Order: sequence, then structure tokens, then C-alpha cells
Amino acid sequence: MISVGKAMENLDKLLLENRGLIRATKGFMPPDEGRALAVSLFSCPIIKGIPAVEIGSYVGLSAIYLGIAARSQGRLLISVDHHHGSEENQAGWEFHDKSIVDPVSRKMDTLYLFRRTMELAGLSNSVIIVAADSQSYATVHAGPIAYLFIDGGHSHAQTFSDYDSWVPKLVDGGFLAIHDVFEDPELGGQAPYIIHQRASAEGFTEILAQGSLRVMRKGGAT
Ligand SMILES: C[S@@+](CC[C@H](N)C(=O)[O-])C[C@H]1O[C@@H](n2cnc3c(N)ncnc32)[C@H](O)[C@@H]1O
Repeated sequence: MISVGKAMENLDKLLLENRGLIRATKGFMPPDEGRALAVSLFSCPIIKGIPAVEIGSYVGLSAIYLGIAARSQGRLLISVDHHHGSEENQAGWEFHDKSIVDPVSRKMDTLYLFRRTMELAGLSNSVIIVAADSQSYATVHAGPIAYLFIDGGHSHAQTFSDYDSWVPKLVDGGFLAIHDVFEDPELGGQAPYIIHQRASAEGFTEILAQGSLRVMRKGGAT
């Protein structure tokens, strides 16, 4: 039987092997938070047939971390994004990247880049790509989920909708990870912080904090 220490060593080795790809991938996940994300999925109870879900793939930076953890445990990660960018990615906004605009549709389009990242990371069989609006997809994804990472649209309406649509699907003991949690409004938008507070009030227990990443367990049980 493999020990937890050894398993974590293996996870770090896999992350190290992918450091070139991680450095080259556009996105919004600093390395320390990415590693913490991978460790959190790795530590989340495995229930056969029950997937992990990421909301907000972008070009695949966070999905490299989550996908590596998922693959090493034989789990599946479903990564959901409509791939047209959030409000802050649109032309004229702070996080716009004009190289990601499709010259024909004239819309932001990260789908092919995300697929490429997953292929380069060897994660095509571990990460299921869902190109859809997160709320619409939640209406047809009827089954339970073991792990949820919320990093989609950061407006209040979108963040609250992601919480309302997906958190009820988490199994008891499952993990909820939220990115960009800033208590101080000077440091960032408040929507992720508000759902973090809401989860605390609804009985989630915080188990990990790294930078702006927070990971909580549904229910208090270990
Ligand atoms: C902050 S980025 C995700 C960053 C990514 N996790 C990373 O590590 O780089 C947010 C993503 O959410 C997606 N998004 C925004 N609103 C969405 C919605 N309603 N449904 C699906 N995806 C959405 C955007 O297209 C964008 O790619």
C-alpha cells in the first residue's frame, strides 16, 4: 500500500515534470495555489464513479493541476466553460487578451487552446471537456459530484449562480474549492468571498487556505 507521504511526493514529481507546460500556459493560477489545488483534490475522498468538477477552464492552467491529481488517482475531472471569456476578459477590460479572439466570430475563444493544453499534459483521458454555460450544464448533470472548484465568471450574479447550481450536487464529505477569495475589497471582487462566507454559514469546514484559494469540506466529518 502506498503511503500518503509517498503519494504526495509522486504528485510533486508529476507537477515538476509539467513545469514547462505550466509556465507556458496562459491563465490565472499562481504555482503555490495550483499545487494547493492539486493537493486538495488528491486529499478528497474517492467515491467510485463520482467525478470532480471545475467551473472555469480558460486555457487550462488550473486543469493541469487538478487533472494531474485526478489522473494519478484514476478519477475523472469535468471542466466546464463556455470558452467565450468572462466579463473581465472582454475587449476594453483589464484581463483581455486579443490573441484569444476568434477572427471569424470575433468572440473570445479558448476552447481549442484548452484542448491543446490537456493533450500536451497527457490529460485527454482524465479531463472531460464541457463547452457550455455552467448553469445550463448543471440542469442536465443530474448526478452527484465529489469535488467542486468554482473559478468561472466572477460577477455576483454568475458566482452566486455557480454556487446555487452546483453546490447542492456535492456529496457529504465532498470538497468545495473557491478561487479569488478576497476579504478586502481593495484586493479583489467580493463575490467569491461572499460564497465562501455562505458556505461557512451552511456548515462547510475550511481545510486549506493558500493565497486566494480556499478549500472547504461539506459537513464537519473528517
Ligand atoms: C478566471 S477564468 C478561469 C481561470 C482558470 N481556472 C485558470 O486557472 O486559468 C474564468 C473562466 O470562466 C468562464 N466563464 C465565465 N462565465 C461562464 C459561464 N456562465 N459558464 C461557463 N463558463 C464561464 C470564462 O469563459 C473563463 O474562461
